Amino acid sequence: MKTIIEPFRIKAVEPIQLTTQAERRGYLTEARHNLFLLPSSRVLIDLLTDSGTGAMSAAQWAAVMTGDESYAGAPSFFRFEQAVKNLMPFKHVLPTHQGRAAEAMLMSLFGGLDKIVPNNTHFDTTRANVEASGARGVDFVIAEGLDANSLHPFKGNMDLERLEAFMAEHHAHVPLIMLTITNNAGGGQPVSLANIQAVSEIAHRYKKPFFIDGCRFAENAHFIKMREHGQGRRSIEDIVRDCFSCADGMTMSAKKDGLGNIGGWLALNDDELAEDARALLIRTEGFPTYGGLAGRDLDALAVGLKEVVDENYLAYRARTNAYIVERLDAMGVPVVKPAGGHAVFVDARAWLSHIDPLAYPGQALATTLYELGGIRSCEIGTVMFGRQSDGTEQAAPMDLVRLAMPRRTYTQSHADYVIEVFEEVAKRLLDLKGLRIVKEPRMLRHFTCAFEVLTD
Ligand code: F0G
Repeated sequence: MKTIIEPFRIKAVEPIQLTTQAERRGYLTEARHNLFLLPSSRVLIDLLTDSGTGAMSAAQWAAVMTGDESYAGAPSFFRFEQAVKNLMPFKHVLPTHQGRAAEAMLMSLFGGLDKIVPNNTHFDTTRANVEASGARGVDFVIAEGLDANSLHPFKGNMDLERLEAFMAEHHAHVPLIMLTITNNAGGGQPVSLANIQAVSEIAHRYKKPFFIDGCRFAENAHFIKMREHGQGRRSIEDIVRDCFSCADGMTMSAKKDGLGNIGGWLALNDDELAEDARALLIRTEGFPTYGGLAGRDLDALAVGLKEVVDENYLAYRARTNAYIVERLDAMGVPVVKPAGGHAVFVDARAWLSHIDPLAYPGQALATTLYELGGIRSCEIGTVMFGRQSDGTEQAAPMDLVRLAMPRRTYTQSHADYVIEVFEEVAKRLLDLKGLRIVKEPRMLRHFTCAFEVLTD
């Protein structure tokens, strides 16, 4: 059969509250045109993030009941630890409440003034944690990764030449090298196994630890299996093990490919660093056998980590995005191609070319998708990255709108509805107006800033 079906039946449903366009126009004004400020009950299809928003399986819910809430030495921790080590063979696994807590710990260990951390592309919380330590993050994704139309199969790859040249000059300031799989900020694009291994080789040649931000490791492994020479017959588990066995540690948000609603971890091999990290964990998150989590969360993740490497699940998961990307592309909507692992990225700067980047074409598109169809998406562009540390504002390299797919949550008719809303936007494209920011906080402004729609 050529139809790739959702490989699950639905046992529990969450009703969606239907709203009218007129109601949504009012809600948008109340939220000052910032979609983060909308109550989720006013959203029809919530594609703001794929983080923690997925559906757990019956087996995961059953595992929740086996959770042991002991402060120390709970069996839930050992089940979780074993599930992690089965895929990522690191010596020490420290559970955290989510990914950014693991990043904060990592940067307490490695960050600091005058330090520089290379990555393919830092995710925003990773960059914020690097910078909060006094260090600076630099991004070396390959040039194809910044070209929405390039069909390169691994657009998340690190540019090895640039990394190498940078290391030759600045290695004394580099405490570690990181790689984000998949490359979320660059469109959910994968990194090849060969590239992961080459980055590891460069790091180790300069005697630097190599850490992977592994949030979407299973989706990345699926693309390696589908696209990388010689990997097609291998199991996802084996590919995942290869990806991590050349690293010295990892940070993880288990809200993505842990198939959990909460959770994360920091894993590493070095005993001394692990001792420091444990002390930090106890101070900030919790005792090392629960970290920032309840025993029941650890058990849900232990099961999630087994389910996420299922090839049928991953094929369906990738197909959802590819389906929407193909349909939008056929309609003439500029989208990042090929489709990424967890989201569809629309090039709003190209589509809404009548709106200046400093009038936030991405935000204009995102708010219109909400007004017309109740879809909540996320601007990844000048609103998110435009404010510079010296206080000036600059257009971001791209103005994208991300429609992130929660895992196992929406069906194909929801995808068809999303496509239909884009058809409506296309009909009134030239009526869309830019916005300006009327109030913003000092950092991470996109979460809370208030907008006003520009008039002609
Ligand atoms: N790294 C990457 C690549 C991420 O995508 C995220 C989260 C994090 C780290 C931080 O993890 O949220 O558990 O603290 N990304 C979410 C998103 C929020 O919407 O893309 P966290």
